[in-house]
Amino acid sequence: MNENKMRIGILTAGGDCPGINAAIRGVGKTAILEYGMEVIGISSGFLGLINQEYSILDENQLSGILTLGGTILGTSRENPFKKGPAFNTIDKPKLIKKHYKELGLDALVCIGGNGTQRTASLLFEEGLNVIGIPKTIDNDVWGTDVSFGFDSALNISVEAIDRLHTTANSHKRIMVIEVMGHHAGWLALYSGIAGGGDVILIPEIDYDISIVSKYLKKRVMNKKPYSIVVVAEGIACPKGQEPAHYISNSISEQTGLETRETILGYIQRGGSPSPMDRVLATRYGAHAVELIAKEHFGVMVALRNDEIISVPLKEVGGKLRTVPLDHPLIEKAIRMGVCVGNCKG
Ligand code: F6P
Repeated sequence: MNENKMRIGILTAGGDCPGINAAIRGVGKTAILEYGMEVIGISSGFLGLINQEYSILDENQLSGILTLGGTILGTSRENPFKKGPAFNTIDKPKLIKKHYKELGLDALVCIGGNGTQRTASLLFEEGLNVIGIPKTIDNDVWGTDVSFGFDSALNISVEAIDRLHTTANSHKRIMVIEVMGHHAGWLALYSGIAGGGDVILIPEIDYDISIVSKYLKKRVMNKKPYSIVVVAEGIACPKGQEPAHYISNSISEQTGLETRETILGYIQRGGSPSPMDRVLATRYGAHAVELIAKEHFGVMVALRNDEIISVPLKEVGGKLRTVPLDHPLIEKAIRMGVCVGNCKG
């Protein structure tokens, strides 16, 4: 610890999302105003610690960023522990430790998804005072009920699905929309339910496209004018094909119904955070600093039944939080006539 005041570093790594700047602000303002700490912003995730790219974060830099999308620090998917090609002999973890010490850091806050928390856990084992904050639109970070970024992406995807209803109805079409979520189906499940999806396909449930097609044809026979099919980007589909294109083409071939597809993509990661994400990111950021003040390291802040707690990073790293097959939302959706890909509807 510096003899007069603690100095903490913040980095943001992995896919960006709305709310990161709210988290940076929560860390920075709590650290500076409550604890008199110094705050260093590290650029481009772990790359910034490798290449010594950082700058002082003071109240001016933290002003006006609560509602700002993206990350003022920049991000990257740099994994310092990933073994590179033989010729790439740089010992990145060693460099990170060296620069952490030269910078005079007393703690490092790592804002990121499961990959980032894994790296944070390994750096803690190497002796760095690390605190993790769970960030991702995928909501697949183990150990927390929700990561910030998820609610904003959910709002974006549901607004898109709402819009697809009107055009699907005008043309009496099947509309397929692919949402993000990596290998987890949280975004597809929640946006499918909130957006009134008739079919919801997630990676956790094996689907049979012929069952989906029969279900859609039955809807037509029951005089349903159109259908909305929500698919997660992580569902199984032939190599090299986008799920939305594969599902749309298969439905069209098997039913003869007019079908179109939309891939929502990076729109789900852009723009200003939702109010819920602003609050959650702020709570996470403030709590991370309280843990640092208590010198409680090697943990990730987490939400558990609306309470902010901390979980050991070694329990988080390398795990994926996917949708459990007995999740109540799945059962309720099926009972309301939604097809999840294996229904005998
Ligand atoms: O992890 C967030 C995420 O948006 C995933 O949903 C998506 O699969 C991935 O990032 C895309 O990665 P990249 O931004 O590197 O293209």
